[in-house]
Amino acid sequence: MTKIAPSILSADFSILKEEIMDVEKGGADYIHVDVMDGQFVPNITIGPLIVKSIRPVTDLPLDVHLMIENPDRYVQQFADAGATIISVHQEACVHLHRTIQLINRAGVKSGVVLNPATPVETIKPILPEVDLVLLMTVNPGFGGQTFLDMVLPKIKKVAEWKKELGLSFEIEVDGGVNPETAPLCMEAGANVLVAGSAVFNKNDRAKAIQTILNP
Ligand code: DX5
Ligand code: ZN
Repeated sequence: MTKIAPSILSADFSILKEEIMDVEKGGADYIHVDVMDGQFVPNITIGPLIVKSIRPVTDLPLDVHLMIENPDRYVQQFADAGATIISVHQEACVHLHRTIQLINRAGVKSGVVLNPATPVETIKPILPEVDLVLLMTVNPGFGGQTFLDMVLPKIKKVAEWKKELGLSFEIEVDGGVNPETAPLCMEAGANVLVAGSAVFNKNDRAKAIQTILNP
């Protein structure tokens, strides 16, 4: 079963609680939280304080995507704030294995993220240690960008390795996911779809979610 993780980056922050409750009611599986530091990516968004305040609002897992330099410094804070999954960019981690261990030891699920131009070979050694692999289908930083289909072979490769190695991590895609691009991702082997604008820019979120999952 494919899961959907609406990204609150495209929500109305003045009514964030209602927005989260609306997508939960509409069939969301995870709430995707985009953390940006203005360094690793050009944009600045939210920190542990917001994660802490939305934790009691929903029963859904909080899927926290860290787009920040030197994420080791903040893993514990996001874990304490109530993150369910903490994902870090391979490109932001000098010692990726150490960072993944840090997340696992913090008692939360761990994820590793790759930018579109980063080869999947860079994460093969750590696959047995992660709960999720997130393949960016846009260059991170903003919602509403165009899906990059050059990432599809990367999804296929990771799905192949998962099978070969008998592992159970989830394969997530993020960026430009909509009813047209979702089937390509699912076919390639993704089982978690992040969608920001394709969910929050629609009035009927339940319908938007259903249309992405069953186009
Ligand atoms: C992009 C973020 C995404 C973003 C996706 O840097 O990581 O999660 O919210 O937005 P859409 O679905 O609009 O491309
Ligand atoms: Zn994201």
